Order: sequence, then structure tokens, then C-alpha cells
Amino acid sequence: MRLKDKVAIVTGGAGGMGRDTVLRMLEEGAHVVVADFNAEQGEQTLALASAAGWGDNVCFLKVDVASESDVKSMIECACDRFGQLDIVFNNAGVGGVIGPIWDVEEDEWDYTFDVLVKGVFFGIKHAARIFRRQGEGGVIINTASVAGLSGGCGPLAYSAAKASVINMTKSASVQLADDRVRVNSICPGFILTGLTKSPKVSTEQAGAHLDGLQPWPDHGTGNDIAGTVVYLACDDSRFVTGEAITIDGGLTAIGPDMWQRFGQPYEADMTKNRLNRGTTGEQTVVRDVQE
Ligand SMILES: NC(=O)c1ccc[n+]([C@@H]2O[C@H](COP(=O)([O-])OP(=O)(O)OC[C@H]3O[C@@H](n4cnc5c(N)ncnc54)[C@H](O)[C@@H]3O)[C@@H](O)[C@H]2O)c1
Repeated sequence: MRLKDKVAIVTGGAGGMGRDTVLRMLEEGAHVVVADFNAEQGEQTLALASAAGWGDNVCFLKVDVASESDVKSMIECACDRFGQLDIVFNNAGVGGVIGPIWDVEEDEWDYTFDVLVKGVFFGIKHAARIFRRQGEGGVIINTASVAGLSGGCGPLAYSAAKASVINMTKSASVQLADDRVRVNSICPGFILTGLTKSPKVSTEQAGAHLDGLQPWPDHGTGNDIAGTVVYLACDDSRFVTGEAITIDGGLTAIGPDMWQRFGQPYEADMTKNRLNRGTTGEQTVVRDVQE
């Protein structure tokens, strides 16, 4: 068990990839505070944990991550309930405002940044305070997104907010290294959760739609995120800090996706091998692929 006797907080743990991470952390021996705005869904996460036999190791706290006093209470809750704090997963999120920049209102922008950026800032700030006081290091993991890595990968405000999370993670990792507090971010691609699934379609339909969006043949799940978060939370990643880890089935590895833009299938022609000799005057050699 890679997180035996560790105490973790998971914001956004009532649903989606947060819930899957809560359950995986419990399986790995952790005690977990599920911190979320959605109390009804939070109770469902607790019910799933209890059904698996981990009921004593988990609790729910209604939290708005955009409120500093809520985030302070969340940190105190972990210490009061389980005696210490080792891991904070700042994961809660929303889509935020989606629309042309000339139409975005200030309050819509503020809501997006309050949840996605200020929420992570508060999480890092108060985790850092308790970790420094405890004097035994700590782990902070922040959910960013592939949207924060380039243009064209998500809505404008959301992408700007996630880029902030990636940068804040790097700066915080430098500030907190002396205290042995590791700070990393994850950049999910398309993951099937309530955020990416329209209520109008079935889970199967939503999954089938996401299947085709990245090189990997099937779509990402909350469990794919949970596995990476547990790796970042445990001592296997002792020397990993300041990183932004993509979990995207190769979505960002495609880069400009040249073959699609040239109107050819993504795989080009996998039955032929070409040696292009450019403008040397020598011919391109084409041969069949041998295996
Ligand atoms: N699903 C994807 O494809 C994808 C891709 C990249 C990044 N992300 C990010 O992953 C994180 C989790 O998203 P998800 O896909 O699991 O979505 P989700 O909607 O299934 O879960 C998000 C959870 O965050 C909670 N939440 C929202 N605002 C909150 C607030 N102010 N305070 C406390 N809790 C709040 C919600 O109640 C919900 O339980 C988000 O930060 C999201 O931006 C998701």
C-alpha cells in the first residue's frame, strides 16, 4: 500500500476524476477528506467508500475552494479528524466562461479564475503553512489541463486559468523545495467525467465520442488520473517536483497534426517506407514495410 497512514485532501472529490482518486487513495491505505461544493455527490462518494470497507478512513466537508476561510477550514478538518496532513490534491474545477473574448463579462471571468486559480492558490498557501509547521515535508498536486499548454485546446478563460496553475505550480515548487514539499501539476486531456459528458447522451455515447479525439484508441477515465496522482503522492516520485505531467493519450504529442492538415489519414501510409533525399537531385526511394 503506497499511501499507508498518509492523510490526504481531495478537492472536487465528490465526482469525476476526484472521486476516482479518493477511492484509489483509500485503497492505497490513505485517510481522505473529500472537499467539494456538491454535498449530495459528496455523500455518494462516502457511500461508495463505505461499501468498499473504508468508511472510517474518509469524511466529507462542504467547501467552496474560491473562499479562503473554507479552504482554511478544510486544512484544519484534516488535522482535527486524522491528526496530520500529508497530501493536498487541488482538483476542483468548472468549465467557466466559454465564448468570444469580446463578449466575456468581468464577473464571468472572475468566477472562472476564482474557482480555477484562486482556489488552487488558497490550497497551496494553506497546505504550505501546515506542512512547514509539521516539518515533515508534504505533497501538493494541482489539476491543470492540456488547455493550459497551448492555444486551441480549450476555452480562452479556462486555458488562461490552467496556464496559471501550471506556472504557479512551478514557482511554488521552487519556494517550497527547502521544506521538502513537492508541488506538481497534472494536465489531463479528454477524460470522461460529468464535465465532458452532456446530460443528454449516455455514458457509452459520450465515451465513444471521446474515443476518436486522441491517438490512443480509447478515451481517458478518472482511474487513469487516479493512477498518476497516487504516483505523484507517494515516495516513488520523491525527486519529482515542479512538473506538469500530461495524461492525454498522446493528444499533445501530435502537435500540429500535419498528416490531418494535409488531408491524409493520421497514420499516413503505414505499409510504405520512404527515404526522401530532398532537392539533391537524387530520387526518393519507396519500399514496402518489412514487418
Ligand atoms: N474531464 C476532463 O476532460 C478534464 C480535462 C482537463 C482538466 N480537467 C480538470 O479536472 C478537474 C476535475 O474535473 P472533472 O472532469 O472530474 O469534473 P467534474 O465536474 O466531474 O468534477 C469536478 C468537481 O469539482 C467540484 N467543484 C466545482 N467547483 C467547486 C468549488 N468552487 N469548490 C469546491 N468544489 C467545486 C464539483 O462539485 C465537482 O464535484 C477540474 O479542475 C477540471 O478543470 C478535466
